[in-house]
Amino acid sequence: MNSLELSPPVFSILSSYIEEKVGITYSHRDKELLQDKLSSRAQEVGFASLLDYYYFLRYDLNGEKELTELTETLVVNETYFFREWPAIQSLVDNFIEPWCASGRRPRIWSAACATGEEPLSLAMLLDDRNLLDKVEIVATDISSRVLAKAQSGKFGKRAVRNIPAPHLFEKYLTANSDGHFQVKPDLCSKIKWEKKNLMTEIELMQLGSFDAILCRNVLIYFSDQVVRAVLDRLSRSLINDGILLVGVSESLLRYSGHFVGEEHGGAFIYRKVRNS
Ligand SMILES: C[S@@+](CC[C@H](N)C(=O)[O-])C[C@H]1O[C@@H](n2cnc3c(N)ncnc32)[C@H](O)[C@@H]1O
Repeated sequence: MNSLELSPPVFSILSSYIEEKVGITYSHRDKELLQDKLSSRAQEVGFASLLDYYYFLRYDLNGEKELTELTETLVVNETYFFREWPAIQSLVDNFIEPWCASGRRPRIWSAACATGEEPLSLAMLLDDRNLLDKVEIVATDISSRVLAKAQSGKFGKRAVRNIPAPHLFEKYLTANSDGHFQVKPDLCSKIKWEKKNLMTEIELMQLGSFDAILCRNVLIYFSDQVVRAVLDRLSRSLINDGILLVGVSESLLRYSGHFVGEEHGGAFIYRKVRNS
């Protein structure tokens, strides 16, 4: 299938619309990538012009439903077990464990969890320390497809490409005869999985407030302006002094305001500034 034409003005309106609704920002350098993705989807649903497809997305009664389908083709769901593991260990050692010891039941949110390896790795560590029942874990993503995969508990080899915690791997993952790995089912069921868009304030408010949020390796897909808006929302979802983890390549130092950076056991975490 040939790509449909994406003229500069149509690129501009379509990329702005996607940024507004999904957060993902496409610069002119990414034009070909966006053109390929849009063309495949638009042609699949019967459009011969990307301008017509834009009008459908924006103004048709079924436009929102179509945007959900398009979003599934735009998001990058790359993740794996024990990714950026020192930060998760630090979160448990320095925050979750002491919170539980003080009798509090912390609420932890894995925002943009993709296929679930991040919250499941956290759940493994907590279960291993007999803390899982003392913590609530909520895991969300904009994509229903990845959430369904997460809840199946079945993962391919790429999900276990890096094993810094072999005892957890042995304890919670079983190799199937078909080459897949199965997570202990009760681990999946202890996590509350929900579809949520980081761009939609009302959806996030429904989750209530959290002691810690992991929002890792998703801000890299957003413009500075979108990151600021998402940080505002995450800050509103955190208690005072609550903890935010972002990906190792996602420094927040240039976004002054809601968070201050702290180093704990070799990992960098952000703490919400009181009443910000
Ligand atoms: C690269 S994965 C990161 C997964 C995991 N947090 C990690 O660090 O391994 C990025 C995820 O962000 C999700 N995502 C992108 N835009 C989003 C949005 N506006 N709201 C919620 N999730 C979003 C994608 O669906 C994808 O699953």
